[in-house]
Amino acid sequence: MRTYIVGNWKMNFTVGESSIYLHKLLKRIKPARGLQIAIAPSFIALQPLSLQIDRKKLRLVAQNCNAKDFGAYTGETAISQLRGLVDYAIIGHSERRYVFGETDNMIKEKVAACIRNNIAPILCIGETENERTFGETADVLKDQLTSGLADVSREDLEKCIIAYEPVWAISSVKGARPAAPDDIAMSINIIRDHLRSTYGEKIAENIPVLFGGSVNPSNAGAYLTIPGVNGLLIGGASLIADQFNDIIEIAKRVTK
Ligand code: 13P
Repeated sequence: MRTYIVGNWKMNFTVGESSIYLHKLLKRIKPARGLQIAIAPSFIALQPLSLQIDRKKLRLVAQNCNAKDFGAYTGETAISQLRGLVDYAIIGHSERRYVFGETDNMIKEKVAACIRNNIAPILCIGETENERTFGETADVLKDQLTSGLADVSREDLEKCIIAYEPVWAISSVKGARPAAPDDIAMSINIIRDHLRSTYGEKIAENIPVLFGGSVNPSNAGAYLTIPGVNGLLIGGASLIADQFNDIIEIAKRVTK
C-alpha cells in the first residue's frame, strides 16, 4: 500500500503565497515510488496551482465540497466543479463538523459526491477530548465510519481514504497535545477491526488509514511506523515548506 503525506493548509496563504510555496516544494521533492504527496490549499488557489503542479511529484486536494453537483447554493463549490483540478477531497474534517456544524448525513452525502465524481474522499473521523474522557472513542469512530461510508458501494470502498484525527490532538485546538503512539495504535485497531468486520478482510486491508494531529518532523517517524497507519494528514507543519519537506524525507526513509 502507498504512503500518503497530505498537507492541509486550512484557511492560510493568498494565491501568490501558495504559488511561491509550491514552487519551493517542487524544486525540493523528488518523486518516490510508493509515496503519494498531496497538498490541500484554499479553493481560490486550486485552479492556478493545478497549472503549476507536477503531478508526478504531488497532487491537489480540496478541503471540502458541497454534496450537490450544481444548483442554487450561493457561496458553495461542488466537487463536480473540481474535477480535473484535484484528485482527493478532505471530507468531514473536525473543523467542518464542530465549527460549521456539518452533520453525519451531510458528510455521507459529500463522500458519495466525491465517489460519483471520481475524486477520492479523505474521510476524517476522530473523538473529542470529552468523548475520550467518557470512554466513547470506539463508539464515535465506528459511528463516524458507518455513517460516512453508508452510501459507498463495495466496489467503491477502495477509492476511500480514512484519516484518524483525534480532535484533542489538533494543534490549533485549545489545550491540544500530541497523541502517544500507543493511543493512536489503539484507535487504528478499532478502525481496522470495524472495516474488517463490516466489509471483509480483503476490502479492509486496501483502505488507507492516515493519522493527523500535531504531526511534525520530530514525531512523524514514530507515527508512520505504527502498524496500520498508511500516512499522515498534516496541518500546522505543512505551512512551512522546510518542515513539510522534512516529513516527506522521513516518510521515504521509514516506509522503504
Ligand atoms: P495540525 O497538524 O495543525 O494539528 O492539524 C491537523 C489537521 O487538522 C489536519 O487536517
